Amino acid sequence: MTFKNRDIIDINDFSKEELLFILKTAKRFDPVFVKRDRSNYTIAQGKIAAVLFFEQSTRTEQSFRSVAQKIGMGIIGFNDPESTSIHKGESFSDTIRIMNSYADVLIIRHPQPGAAREAANVAEIPVINAGDGPNQHPTQTMLDLYTILKEAGRIDGITVALMGDLKYGRTVHALSLALSHFKVKQIFVSHPTLAMPDEFLRILDQRGVRYEQTDELPENFSADFLYQTRVQKERFANLNEYKKIKDKFILDGSFKKYLDKGVKLMHPLPRVNEIDPILDNHPNAIYFTQARNGLYIREALLALVLGRI
Ligand code: NCD
Repeated sequence: MTFKNRDIIDINDFSKEELLFILKTAKRFDPVFVKRDRSNYTIAQGKIAAVLFFEQSTRTEQSFRSVAQKIGMGIIGFNDPESTSIHKGESFSDTIRIMNSYADVLIIRHPQPGAAREAANVAEIPVINAGDGPNQHPTQTMLDLYTILKEAGRIDGITVALMGDLKYGRTVHALSLALSHFKVKQIFVSHPTLAMPDEFLRILDQRGVRYEQTDELPENFSADFLYQTRVQKERFANLNEYKKIKDKFILDGSFKKYLDKGVKLMHPLPRVNEIDPILDNHPNAIYFTQARNGLYIREALLALVLGRI
């Protein structure tokens, strides 16, 4: 299995075996499994990452920056496209062509679905999609899978509920597709206007996935994981629509009884108000651990696409 020069654009580009291989490689960078290996520090020495963020980010951008340095890479890039020649009218593809000649890997976040694919068509070096609008966010999905595997010890045989903004949330789209490779029951909890889009449900149907859709968390709710998400304000054309539904799916202190029963609570973060911080210290509230796991997945991905491991 080789990942050298591979683009990481769409979770559907990866087979179950490839996903499991990436999770296994990430363990090499995770101090829970391996005492920090000093040889990791020079894995990608001499290589340059271009971090090109056309949309805001905290975790994805900073974790990529952190791990690129940890494995010896240099970093160039921007997170304010207005400070670049795009401001003067330069096209996306010209910008990519230039960055391609200055770097060894491009890490791109963009508000347009398909932007990462477009960049990969222009670039000769590997492109990593760090989120393309409401479409996908494959490195988030890999870290979510990694978290599930690490916490549950398996992926097959579990139940995962996805909640919140299933319409615009790119994290839940790609996670649902990735989980469809495994024997996982999926429960979709959302306001009907924010339901999982049909295009994704059709794929789940084709793959014979067991799933349920509900517009509220049932009183007798039970699952191994609940993946809560933020209502994606920036994707609403009509802000009044956003205001009407933004507070419908909030987990407050009353959710503690489910955490006590063993449900593990995930969230890609950032949260706004959809998880009350009162739940944060519960051992089954694992969203901060989940964000940390992003380091190991991204470290592994950079090393893999650069052909250094
Ligand atoms: C998510 C994203 O950007 O899609 N955050 C992340 O990358 N960790 C979720 C969100 O913005 O709600």
